Amino acid sequence: MASKLILPINNELHLREIEVSDAPAIFHIINTQREYLGKWLPFVAATESWEDTYAFIQSVKDQKVPVVQIVFSIYRDKNLVGLISVLNIDQGNRKAEIGYWISQNEQHQGIVTKSVLAVINYCFTDLMLNRVQIRCGTENLSSRKIPERLGFTLEGVERDSELMSDGHFVDHAVYSLLWIEWMERKDRLLNSSGLYKTL
Ligand SMILES: CC(C)(COP(=O)(O)OP(=O)(O)OC[C@H]1O[C@@H](n2cnc3c(N)ncnc32)[C@H](O)[C@@H]1OP(=O)(O)O)[C@@H](O)C(=O)NCCC(=O)NCCS
Repeated sequence: MASKLILPINNELHLREIEVSDAPAIFHIINTQREYLGKWLPFVAATESWEDTYAFIQSVKDQKVPVVQIVFSIYRDKNLVGLISVLNIDQGNRKAEIGYWISQNEQHQGIVTKSVLAVINYCFTDLMLNRVQIRCGTENLSSRKIPERLGFTLEGVERDSELMSDGHFVDHAVYSLLWIEWMERKDRLLNSSGLYKTL
């Protein structure tokens, strides 16, 4: 059996490659926080039972090479509190995108910011990517603060980028960070977030 990919963050937090055994915990968060998560994430409405979550995880596990998606569960101690993914991995052009969500009661503590830093480091160091993108609904200000805090460049707005479950489209603010920029900033970012010793 392949070993699990784990990205340590600090004594309390780590990222672990998603496993089918995570399905009940993930579905529980989705099912009890539909309004909060569904406002920005269309898959929430399509997730009706834990079997849907199980099928999603299985589809991630069943990917053939080249892998286009790596999904990590965010763990706080022994509890799964959210997901963070490397999406649309394009090894030909050495680029990918990062997506994330966290349980409502775990917000505003810097957990997603630290998780994004760990995943960026993984993208540039292990996947040897050149460009990492984050896209957020233009009105999703909490999400936009994350790439902005980490020094991503706002490239522009992709109009009607995503169809939400209620039938309306949202515009996406598109942010990117290049490997050369990461090399310039990573010491400062990892130091200020306390991740320097871990990564
Ligand atoms: C958007 C979302 C991911 C943000 O999560 P979060 O945990 O609040 O984000 P962070 O981890 O970066 O936390 C930032 C907040 O923690 C505070 N914070 C506390 N300690 C911190 C630290 N050490 N480092 C960074 N921020 C810290 C920041 O000041 C900031 O506060 P603010 O949001 O009031 O300005 C979360 O609200 C969410 O999952 N929303 C629903 C789904 C969603 O929108 N997903 C994104 C789709 S693009």
